[in-house]
Amino acid sequence: MTQWSPHSWRMKPICQVPDYPDHAALEAVEDRLRTHPPLVFAGEARNLMAGLAQVAQGKAFLLQGGDCAESFAEFHPDNIRDTFRVLLQMAVVLTFAAGVPVVKVGRIAGQFAKPRSDDNETREGVTLPSYRGDNINGIEFTPEARIPDPQRLLQGYAQSAATLNLLRAFASGGYADLHNVHQWMLGFIAGSPASDKYRGLAQRISEALDFMAACGVTPDSVPQLRSTAFYTSHEALFLGYEQALTRIDSTSGDWYDTSAHMLWIGDRTRQPDGAHVEFCRGIKNPIGLKCGPSMTDDELSRLCAVLNPDNTPGRLTLICRFGADKVAERLPRLIRAVERAGAAVVWSCDPMHGNTVKSGTGYKTRPFDRILKEMKTFFEVHRGEGTHPGGVHFEMTGQNVTECLGGAQAIVEEDLEKRYHTHCDPRLNASQALELAFLMAESLRAERMKDAGFAA
Ligand code: PEP
Ligand code: CO
Repeated sequence: MTQWSPHSWRMKPICQVPDYPDHAALEAVEDRLRTHPPLVFAGEARNLMAGLAQVAQGKAFLLQGGDCAESFAEFHPDNIRDTFRVLLQMAVVLTFAAGVPVVKVGRIAGQFAKPRSDDNETREGVTLPSYRGDNINGIEFTPEARIPDPQRLLQGYAQSAATLNLLRAFASGGYADLHNVHQWMLGFIAGSPASDKYRGLAQRISEALDFMAACGVTPDSVPQLRSTAFYTSHEALFLGYEQALTRIDSTSGDWYDTSAHMLWIGDRTRQPDGAHVEFCRGIKNPIGLKCGPSMTDDELSRLCAVLNPDNTPGRLTLICRFGADKVAERLPRLIRAVERAGAAVVWSCDPMHGNTVKSGTGYKTRPFDRILKEMKTFFEVHRGEGTHPGGVHFEMTGQNVTECLGGAQAIVEEDLEKRYHTHCDPRLNASQALELAFLMAESLRAERMKDAGFAA
């Protein structure tokens, strides 16, 4: 394999490239970004890698979630707080049910660039370049907004830095106290139409906390209960930005992309000889790889070898997104290919991207039942193959949006227009996301009880 450098991707074929009118202006912005401070430290990325290694070995669970696309317009501390809060609530439910630590990773503080199926979008006979995420161009359907503007990369960096600063404060400043999180959950259950279904599990968590307190395990005696480890991630799509934030770690001498703890390669940019794989193979961060229905066994084995040549557990997370109707057929073959290759990976399920449909009212949406079905099938297939269903990957928000159909709130097609705010794909709202965590918890707990020889 040829020598890697932070710019070696520039020699490879590349997909999903915005058409900047002024290349000199783009280069000037990338040069400025090179002088900006790193957003994360290599040591933190290594801690995440260690957490993911536990997931790969079946001793932990991965919860990854957040916006499909962060936006400049929705940048607000309340939005950051609410997404963080729902992820934490989901994590507590899953920790209790799975009986293992949950590694928490946000699609946040940098998730701006979007791959598109078409370079152009046509509305009422007018064709303009597609929207590619707020760090590239504007979502408004006007010729001016759709021209890629490199200054947006600086705004994306600034928003990422401010978001991460608040997340760090939330994670370590007392807000994430386990008892707080549990209180929020009781509040959610009291207000949920499906409260009867979830009360039992919440009650058991309350009892566990009381038991711990009676044994002297409280936030005063164990300060770790007041804080949590929370990591950031986004798609490594716009490589000029990623390259500018790729730095040598002085401790290890290795290259890290300091724009996030974890980066993933999208389903549209995972060509084994392409630029995105080239860039990601050389950085030492944990890497995600989206695996859609067109991924073949051979391609996957090759990608595992290129992206994780030393077979380090925690380095590579395979994020499967086949669709509820395809997962049972596609997943077993890939699992067997990975097992044959002896590759150590985290298997994660993205039940969002294969289940997007158009509503009768013209909105891109996702039915809750299909999301749930893909997730359940993912768990069953792994059970059948004897492998560990390591985690889940959601597009979700802490806001009460109406973008996905169904759930206990029973959102119907006519509701979609009420609060449809996403800049790209439809997200689960806070209550749908938590509901999924509870439903997942039921299966995880039933299996654990079965394995332990108890009736569930
Ligand atoms: C995404 O995660 O927002 C995305 C575009 O996913 P995929 O690459 O799986 O289509
Ligand atoms: Co998406």
